[in-house]
Amino acid sequence: MCGIVGILGTKAVATDLVDALRRLEYRGYDSAGIATVENGHLERRRAEGKLRNLETRLLTEPLTGRTGIGHTRWATHGRPVERNAHPHMSDRVSVVHNGIIENYRDLKAELTARGHTFETDTDTEAVVHLVTDGMQQGLGPIEAVRAALGRLEGAFALGIIFAGHDDLMIAARQGSPLALGHGTGEMYLGSDAIALAPFTDTITYLEEGDWAVLRRTGAEIYDRAGARVERPLVKAVASALLVDKGNHRHFMAKEIHEQPEVISHTLANYLDMAAGTVNFPPLGIDLASVSRVTISACGTAYYAGLVGKYWIERIARIPVEIDTASEFRYREPPLSPGGLSLFVSQSGETADTLATLRYCKANGQRIASIVNVRTSTIARESHAVLPTLAGPEIGVASTKAFTCQLSVLACLAIALGRARGTIDAAQEAELVKALTEIPRLISTVLRNEDEYEKLAHELSKARDVLYLGRGTSYPLALEGALKLKEISYIHAEGYGAGELKHGPIALIDENVPVVVIAPEDELFEKTMSNMQEVAARGGQIILVSDAESSKVGCRLATHIRVPKAHPFATPLLYAVPIQLIAYHTAVFMGTDVDQPRNLAKSVTVE
Ligand code: G6P
Repeated sequence: MCGIVGILGTKAVATDLVDALRRLEYRGYDSAGIATVENGHLERRRAEGKLRNLETRLLTEPLTGRTGIGHTRWATHGRPVERNAHPHMSDRVSVVHNGIIENYRDLKAELTARGHTFETDTDTEAVVHLVTDGMQQGLGPIEAVRAALGRLEGAFALGIIFAGHDDLMIAARQGSPLALGHGTGEMYLGSDAIALAPFTDTITYLEEGDWAVLRRTGAEIYDRAGARVERPLVKAVASALLVDKGNHRHFMAKEIHEQPEVISHTLANYLDMAAGTVNFPPLGIDLASVSRVTISACGTAYYAGLVGKYWIERIARIPVEIDTASEFRYREPPLSPGGLSLFVSQSGETADTLATLRYCKANGQRIASIVNVRTSTIARESHAVLPTLAGPEIGVASTKAFTCQLSVLACLAIALGRARGTIDAAQEAELVKALTEIPRLISTVLRNEDEYEKLAHELSKARDVLYLGRGTSYPLALEGALKLKEISYIHAEGYGAGELKHGPIALIDENVPVVVIAPEDELFEKTMSNMQEVAARGGQIILVSDAESSKVGCRLATHIRVPKAHPFATPLLYAVPIQLIAYHTAVFMGTDVDQPRNLAKSVTVE
């Protein structure tokens, strides 16, 4: 995690470093800092908490150097206090780091024994002392970094500057993303191209194991073995517009409201709406011959994958194995050759998902990824990329990326079903039509936000909230609970409605709101029975359903009426009320909706 930037500029770079860091705050916001080369020596400013604290600091204690690095932190090693904030430095070298140096304890012991004094609890400081030690032994900066890189284990992206070297910066990438930006007489470094969007759209992505020597005139790139390599210059599509909330109070609200548009856009990429057919890109595998699908992802993307499992099994009759990437990667499940492995990721950089992808690739699977960032590592390492066209998602709690992931998975399920003959052309047309109607139905939901504001008053008093659903509404119950706890900090759990009686029912009393997600589908009556069990114990029921209240048969605290949709497409539609419930509750409680505590948008550490 964490975001890093670097600039070799032609004027003072502090303001531009902060601007670039603002675009990386989605990667963490526990602390921020910059360091520059000031008249030959290194100076830094750091501040605990969000970037604005650093900005305030820079007003009274400015930096004027033309060579600088910056960092926004998501704490892994060491509490989020100023002492542990990056950049870390000695009198010779300053380092920003994203990732984890796994052997830092050994390095620290060795370097301490050699007389180095560590001041922080971070793993990163080992890099500072390792490079400094090399320079003390007489190595030049480039040789000292080269030697240090050979000693580092783990995942990292590094940006390094040196006292006495105004035209030098070194970047290194192993397991964490890093982009170089080319300006006119200036060079840039960033965790992604978005950070560099205001300065340049000419980008070089470092490959795994690469490290680069940057000067104002350009970069020399070396691979892991030390051989000089050429990496292509690409034009980044990242837009400088993204740090804009429009008329909305939060990015999350803006992104929830963008869903009709971005879902339409994503569906149009995979469907021929007029013909009522799926128009799926080739995956380099014969869809008719797919006999097993493996899905792996983290967080919200995992819940999208879980809905995908229900769809693919039901429509295409293919067994689907799914697991969170952090479990999958160490479980090392046996995979028979020729299987299709799907990876779902908004950022395309999630470390666990990437590790799982590599495991599946090494085990002969065809790799397809559903990603929102097409230039990401997961996209680049996949055989086939299935983009979600959600546009940049800034709010840490994922909303529009989730529904776009569902859109792609729904189309894939239909494509697999058609290829295998488990559905015919008429059924394909019916399912395509069901999806096509969703953007309009979501717009209807978005016109009734007042009812969520009222509900937020009630939910804000709760200590615990349960979410229940069956079938494809079960993953939505999990996602609803995740959304609520992520941004309102109210404890919430999602359960399959039928599982309630095996434990969670013990929690129910008149103080526990229970959100029941129950479209009127083939499982509706079953879910209603479980809801009666809650009602009988005095739980406050919040029903999210298209059913008439008269069909419910018990007292409801709230009935959020959702428009009727085809049962296949309900996950896309019901995702929106559960987002609005969480959003309005968090707004009512006054939490930091777009940047909830302890979280980060892109998790590039294990
Ligand atoms: C973090 C984010 C979640 C996201 C998850 C997976 O936990 O806060 O919103 O669902 O990572 O991220 P990915 O980029 O792989 O979808």
